[in-house]
Amino acid sequence: MPGTCVVGLQWGDEAKGKIVDLLGDQNDFVVRFNGGANAGHTVVWGDRKFALSLLPTGVLKPHVQSVIGNGVVVYPPRFIEEVDKLRAVGIPVGANLMVSNHAHVIFPYHMEEERLAEANVDAKLGTTGRGIGPCYQDKVGRRNAVRVGELLRPDHLRERLRQIVPFKNRLMHAHCADASAEPKAFDANRLCDEYLGYAETLKPHVCDTARVLHEAFAAGKNVLFEAAQGSLLDVDHGTFPYVTSSSSLPSGIWSGSGVPSRAVTRIIGIVKAYTSRVGRGPFPTELDDGPTGIGERIRQIGREFGTVTGRPRRTGWFDSIAVKYTATLAGVDEITVMLLDVLSGLPELKLGIGYDLDGERITHFPSDSYDLERCKPIYETMPGWSEDITKVKTLAGLPTAARRYVDRIGEMVGKKISFVSIGPDRDQTIHLS
Ligand code: GDP
Ligand code: IMO
Ligand code: MG
Repeated sequence: MPGTCVVGLQWGDEAKGKIVDLLGDQNDFVVRFNGGANAGHTVVWGDRKFALSLLPTGVLKPHVQSVIGNGVVVYPPRFIEEVDKLRAVGIPVGANLMVSNHAHVIFPYHMEEERLAEANVDAKLGTTGRGIGPCYQDKVGRRNAVRVGELLRPDHLRERLRQIVPFKNRLMHAHCADASAEPKAFDANRLCDEYLGYAETLKPHVCDTARVLHEAFAAGKNVLFEAAQGSLLDVDHGTFPYVTSSSSLPSGIWSGSGVPSRAVTRIIGIVKAYTSRVGRGPFPTELDDGPTGIGERIRQIGREFGTVTGRPRRTGWFDSIAVKYTATLAGVDEITVMLLDVLSGLPELKLGIGYDLDGERITHFPSDSYDLERCKPIYETMPGWSEDITKVKTLAGLPTAARRYVDRIGEMVGKKISFVSIGPDRDQTIHLS
């Protein structure tokens, strides 16, 4: 069964969008199975640049069926805005985009709940503010959740919101009892009217996407699963509690799309040639070396600013221990090394090969974030290169030091490398398999 998964092996933003776009040509379906508009996947075609947040990257290609699976949390205004933006630049979006009737709906009160939670400095996680966590909380709690399919039943939706909204208002008010900021209050009827309006636009796209995918597999179609976020943000296996609220590993495919895991026969792990992270949480190889340091240089050259929030991303050296851990968890067959060009011009490069944890040298990734926070990185140093590599077409065309660096990453992670990326454009890619 020809299923492929593209999954980030760090803390997100590994340039998954670029690889999904490249592989899109060989696939009939592109499926999102986790997260929501907290993702920001960038695709560059010459002078055209697209940033997709909620929609699968496949939507840029009208011949590909794009599926928002049941594991995704959908904010309808964002869905409509993204579709409109694509249409405005000449990308047709119609029957090629499907949304699961079982996906859960994000309401403005989810964003307000998140705002209030993040206002507590002690409990702040540095989330994207898109209502992701509160919506998944409601999904797991069941009583206050609304699925996309329910938006298409007006009377039912009104009744549900009349139960949920006053409860949410009371909850947020209690949450804020001793805080200075008053929570916003929501009106069930007004919210219902607003969402019934969105439902009209969503309706032609809503269906039982699990059934569609089962039929696709039965017909021998090629299906590509586009994981959002990164494996270290996975709610179970990531650096908890500094994670997102969904399963960003390929294990999320089964629950988040209804496709059994054995249908996925190729798993491609995406890594940057260094590491970045947005939001709070441990990051042992972080380069926190000031405005003239290497961390800032990587941030500027790699344009490491959040696609969704614009926040500066934290940057640091490649951490082979972290990536070995996630490559194992994700069951990857191969990896791709992205943004290699960003490291050009550095006299030497460091690769994390272990940690010092309370005086003891360890070479495994501590599954406990509080231990990870105390880990000091142990590095191997390699020579850098000064040449511009952004126009190189083959591995042999790379400077020796760059080639050695890439080989060393493959060796450390223990996986073959299938693509090396040396610029944002789809043409700036070295294909190795
Ligand atoms: P995603 O969330 O994993 O899809 O990654 P993002 O799109 O959030 O971030 C990756 C960023 O790197 C985007 O701005 C891409 O256009 C850019 N990019 C992708 N590949 C390369 C590369 O090889 N070199 C450089 N310099 N930029 C790249
Ligand atoms: P893509 O798909 C990078 C981070 C947030 C925050 C944490 C929880 O573009 O790689 P959330 O809003 O999900 O509750 O925030 O997760 N985060 C991402 N970081 N790339 C992403 O997506 C992310 N999605 C969420 O910054 O630290
Ligand atoms: Mg991103």
